[in-house]
Amino acid sequence: MKYLIANFKANLNHLDIINWLEIFVPETQKNTQIQQKLQSGEIKVVVCPPFSFLLPLKKKISGLTGVVCGAQDISRFDNGRYTGEVTAQSLQGVVEYAIIGHSERRSSFSETESDISQKLHFCRQYQIKPILCIRGKEDKIDPDTPIVCYEPPQSIGTGDNLSLDETLKTKKQLPLTPKQLFFYGGSVNAHDIHQYRANPEIAGFLIGTASVSPTDFLALLNAV
Ligand code: PGA
Repeated sequence: MKYLIANFKANLNHLDIINWLEIFVPETQKNTQIQQKLQSGEIKVVVCPPFSFLLPLKKKISGLTGVVCGAQDISRFDNGRYTGEVTAQSLQGVVEYAIIGHSERRSSFSETESDISQKLHFCRQYQIKPILCIRGKEDKIDPDTPIVCYEPPQSIGTGDNLSLDETLKTKKQLPLTPKQLFFYGGSVNAHDIHQYRANPEIAGFLIGTASVSPTDFLALLNAV
């Protein structure tokens, strides 16, 4: 199975999301090639909108096999007096996955390894599968986290995706356990995914820019 994680980041507003779903849902339903891949478990799609759109999005995709919701982050706190935070407890049953430790959170929000450990802990406590993002071997990998996504910062949003060889070279240097799934993220789109898609060592992709337009994302689902 190849996982495709759509990370909208802070890009779409309410009307954009409605438009995205109005194109994505019917096209996914009627495209027999995509349907076959989703239903056979060849691909799984995790759509990660901003928090405010999670519930309406979840409702709209509920009829699609192999398409689920994810969060772009969770709070490092549990439920309590933390104004503005979105906790794992509040997302339990809403999302199946959460992106944790994205490099944009580490750099723009000064997220530390200790914050990330807390977030992984709450994911486990509330049965949310974390997708732990790392920038390279300098970032800590919790041996109990099921998915590790390598995203070199210079490849994020730049169009300069890392080659398969470079990606696998870094993978070899990471302390991964045999059970951990390895994902790649950084400027993946319908044109460059062919170089990674057949490689069994790469179990999934985190997609930012190419997920914001539903047609670009559908092109990726066709190409993978
Ligand atoms: P990108 O973003 O596809 O725009 O490079 C990937 C990510 O940051 O998750």
